[in-house]
Amino acid sequence: MSQQYVAAIDQGTTSSRCILFDRDGRIVSVDQREHRQIFPQPGWVEHDAMEIWANVEVVVKNALQKSDITPDQVAAIGITNQRETTVVWDRETGEPVHNAIVWQDTRTGDLARELGGDQGQDRFRETCGLPLATYFSGPKLRWLLDNVEGLRGRAERGEVLFGTMDTWIIWKLTGRHVTDVTNASRTMLMNLHTLEWDNGVLEAMDIPAAVLPEIRSSSEVYGQARGYLAGTPVASSLGDQHAALFGQTCFDPGDVKGTYGTGTFLVMNTGTEPVTSQNGLLTTLGYKLGDEPAVYALEGSIAVTGSLVQWLRDNLGLIASAPEIETLARTVEDNGGCYIVPAFSGLFAPHWDSDARGVIAGLTGYVNKGHIARAVLEASAWQTREVVDAMNADSQIDLTSLKVDGGMTADNLLMQILSDVLDAEVVRPMVAETTCLGAAYAAGLAVGYWPDVETLRANWHKAAEWTPKMDADVRDREYHNWKKAVRRTLDWVE
Ligand code: G3P
Repeated sequence: MSQQYVAAIDQGTTSSRCILFDRDGRIVSVDQREHRQIFPQPGWVEHDAMEIWANVEVVVKNALQKSDITPDQVAAIGITNQRETTVVWDRETGEPVHNAIVWQDTRTGDLARELGGDQGQDRFRETCGLPLATYFSGPKLRWLLDNVEGLRGRAERGEVLFGTMDTWIIWKLTGRHVTDVTNASRTMLMNLHTLEWDNGVLEAMDIPAAVLPEIRSSSEVYGQARGYLAGTPVASSLGDQHAALFGQTCFDPGDVKGTYGTGTFLVMNTGTEPVTSQNGLLTTLGYKLGDEPAVYALEGSIAVTGSLVQWLRDNLGLIASAPEIETLARTVEDNGGCYIVPAFSGLFAPHWDSDARGVIAGLTGYVNKGHIARAVLEASAWQTREVVDAMNADSQIDLTSLKVDGGMTADNLLMQILSDVLDAEVVRPMVAETTCLGAAYAAGLAVGYWPDVETLRANWHKAAEWTPKMDADVRDREYHNWKKAVRRTLDWVE
């Protein structure tokens, strides 16, 4: 039989990709396409779900053709995706009823406050593990039901379907209306303990159950693909951060990974029982393999890290390409007293303040563009430090080593700063595309391409590591200054 591969489709915030992996977990082929970011009003972010689906079809075909791989050589397809982004479409025509509302979108700020009522932000936390914030899908779906003419009636009659991007892609590929526990855990609508939609939350949010997909495990055959990969089993679905946890082989309680993309997401495996955070982290699903018990996780989500570098490039024009940030930041020794807190979509973990707005603090006539570049990189590191402090407090274990991945980890200066501010070792694996790798692993396990998780663990190899070099008193002083800058962003909107 000819060589077999597993295809992972990563439907991300800025682009869609397809990566083919071989049995050693090595990348064989990649294709990627960006889609438009639609900003109808300040704070609103939308995607065109049809454009995204068209891109997915193209990248899958291109990834195979670039490496002369034929559709019958693909053993399984895994799906991973930007989470929380919400789309509703017509069951008959397959046409979305509105642009998808992206996770970064803040239009549901008032609605989230209203839903909290007297009980506030944590009204549903015990049930779903999440605070009421603009980030999650439930309120976005409710906004669509309230604002798209006639949609509520159509929803109640079962004429339209809701999904996050995994559900949209799987429905387009197979015609099945399903999601997995990890993606469902980001809607606020799933009960963490039963892994089913929660009637109490649905009622409180006024969401008809008829629109919701079936919740399945993260690793099982949902259906066979149609189209170019016709007949190939679609066999995994994991939100991108959960996929990265799996791809980094964080299979043991206490294992932590940090993915540095548009935003940064730290996820810690906490084993088979959900842990409620006392420190502003989210309780979420890690993954669930078929009939095995679900694995839970604590997550610290940071909305803006890589997108701050893009902002420096696109809105300020201080660099021509994202990797130039490192060169510019290396023109100076330190931040020159400047701190940037990029609260563009409010502040996520551990603050959860939708009304925060960004600041550049500590400006003097001395500060130049090198200092600004350095402050941009440091913003990613200090935001990580705040999340790690919360994880240490919740788990009662001090983090000593962080497995990192994602585009920003190519920046060696950032990785050193990260190790310095965390006072911990930072480790990057050989395959930095751990999101796709995790989706491929989960799909491959479901169809027997890989026999067990031990085989996957053996595929993980260290490529680089950084150890702390900063003096403790410098670290303490800088952290103190960072916290002062953060205080200036909170409750900006009155
Ligand atoms: O929760 C949002 C996250 O899943 C988006 O990730 O990498 O597509 O920006 P990314």
